[in-house]
Amino acid sequence: MIEDIFNIIAKSAPSIRHELSTRRGSSNTQNPTGDSQLAADIWADNLFAEKILELDSVGLYASEERENVLTSGDGFSVAIDPLDGSSNLLSNNMIGTIVGVYDSILPTSGRNLIAAAYVLYGPITTMVTAYSGSVNEYVVDQGNLRPLRKGITLPKKPQLYGFGGTENDWTPKFKKYAESIRNEFKPRYGGSLISDVNQILTYGGIFAYPALISSPTGKLRTLFEAHPVAYIIETAGGLSSNGDVSLLDLSPENLHDRTPLYVGNKTLIEELSNL
Ligand code: AHG
Ligand code: MN
Ligand code: MN
Repeated sequence: MIEDIFNIIAKSAPSIRHELSTRRGSSNTQNPTGDSQLAADIWADNLFAEKILELDSVGLYASEERENVLTSGDGFSVAIDPLDGSSNLLSNNMIGTIVGVYDSILPTSGRNLIAAAYVLYGPITTMVTAYSGSVNEYVVDQGNLRPLRKGITLPKKPQLYGFGGTENDWTPKFKKYAESIRNEFKPRYGGSLISDVNQILTYGGIFAYPALISSPTGKLRTLFEAHPVAYIIETAGGLSSNGDVSLLDLSPENLHDRTPLYVGNKTLIEELSNL
């Protein structure tokens, strides 16, 4: 069931890693949110679509890289960001895969998530899963999941912050917040949501891709990026917010809607919400 979905993602990870070096070029196309697609984005989406829809427990596949959902009968809905941070491919920095499993047709509220996971293609390939109230980390070893850390919770003492967007595009409210955070914590921004979130899960702190003056809904996509990350962070005892409510309370009208995203230690997200 849910484990089958986690396992098929893990089984696909070695091929993804292997194929990346030859698929770093542009495909001269754009995805539904207007990002330029690399050959690797399209290739990974096709691979996941085929593998995930083969599972009896999955009835719907939605991806950041395709306009409409694919269906295959009854079952869970899977929303995926096949390659997160793909612009990092050119500079050989970290990238990931993000997955949300919903017990509803899409789009829907984050409250209908029943599991979420991500793969981080870093110096080693790791996978973090959230399911049934527990967050676990694995090494992906030749496609198999080898447990690393079980029952992960955010460290009590936060250490890091990472903020997306350019400072002159931040709102006055967020600028003020960033100023207070900068005095206390170390900056770490990797340009791929998954690597940035994984270091918050490891060292504690806050990651934000805020509302921008030029884009009040920010950059990240609710179903494919915000919901699954919020589910993982909240299951690990942290908080998520769009600046107002938990990201899990958002019910996007459209598949590719965006949202501002703030995730991390409870105290830091509460301070932001109280501004
Ligand atoms: P994707 O490659 O799936 O489009 O995601 C990119 C996202 C996210 O991973 C990251 O947090 C952010 O965009 C980076 O944006 P900037 O280039 O503006 O820093
Ligand atoms: Mn992404
Ligand atoms: Mn992507």
